[in-house]
Amino acid sequence: MGQGKLSGRVALVTGAASGIGRAVALQLAQEGAIVSIIDMNLEGARAVAREVESLNGKALAIQCDVSVEEQVNQTVKETAEKLGNVDILVNCAGMFVGNNSLVDMVTVDWLRTLDVHCGGTFFFSRAVVGSMKEGGRIINISSVDGVQGQVLGIHYAAAKAAVIGFTKTLALEVADKGITANAIAPGVIRTPMSQLLIEISPDFYKKIPADRFGEPEDIAELATFLASPGASYLTGQTIVVDGGLTLANPVNQFALEVMGQS
Ligand SMILES: NC(=O)c1ccc[n+]([C@@H]2O[C@H](COP(=O)([O-])OP(=O)(O)OC[C@H]3O[C@@H](n4cnc5c(N)ncnc54)[C@H](O)[C@@H]3O)[C@@H](O)[C@H]2O)c1
Repeated sequence: MGQGKLSGRVALVTGAASGIGRAVALQLAQEGAIVSIIDMNLEGARAVAREVESLNGKALAIQCDVSVEEQVNQTVKETAEKLGNVDILVNCAGMFVGNNSLVDMVTVDWLRTLDVHCGGTFFFSRAVVGSMKEGGRIINISSVDGVQGQVLGIHYAAAKAAVIGFTKTLALEVADKGITANAIAPGVIRTPMSQLLIEISPDFYKKIPADRFGEPEDIAELATFLASPGASYLTGQTIVVDGGLTLANPVNQFALEVMGQS
């Protein structure tokens, strides 16, 4: 490690103790970035930092609840003191609480979901952008649910849609500094968060044109590209990474059946 297209860059990844965030942190490190591993779960964050170090990379693990402004500011300060100013920010921390329709939605679940996904993305972006140099990158993890809605997840869909609007606006505000901001909208990715869905409906992958669930590495590949110098002209976009799931509407499914491909 050390040599790579992100050599010498400082990356901060939230939600990096598990799933997509962990895969992103490891891949950025493989490309030479120094990584600040942020999560509420300190033990998990430390374990990922050890994984990075075992690959001869450099990492720092910090415990932080992304929805708490003071903790976020302290985390960015500590990262700057120990690793340097953040060049690459990946807002990935997230959770899904309470499968309910609107009428049964519990206020505490609604507020917590917005606080973590939108609040966390806002606090971290604001905290790093002032000291971010030209070539800086902000990558926000949204969801296909933010693009097409999610029955029994109206709070989650609203939060993930907000992340997309936030990203577009941020991209415009920082473009003249040579910084880009983009969002990734994953489909069903095999992580602890999607474990229940996959357990309840193990054959769900058959509805995905790619005929498999996504893996965290599928998202990490794109995040690594967006973080790289080669992506400098790509900004304000939301890129769907779902194996074709959102294209599999009834019209296309019917046409595929007619073709004998379903
Ligand atoms: N897995 C999927 O199918 C899927 C699909 C679309 C979008 N996403 C999004 O991808 C992101 C990562 O999810 P994942 O699937 O890797 O889940 P995961 O549960 O494996 O990882 C989420 C991590 O975020 C951390 N976290 C949660 N709340 C936090 C907080 N307030 N402060 C700090 N850390 C916190 C958790 O401790 C955990 O380590 C989330 O934003 C999620 O909404 C996931």
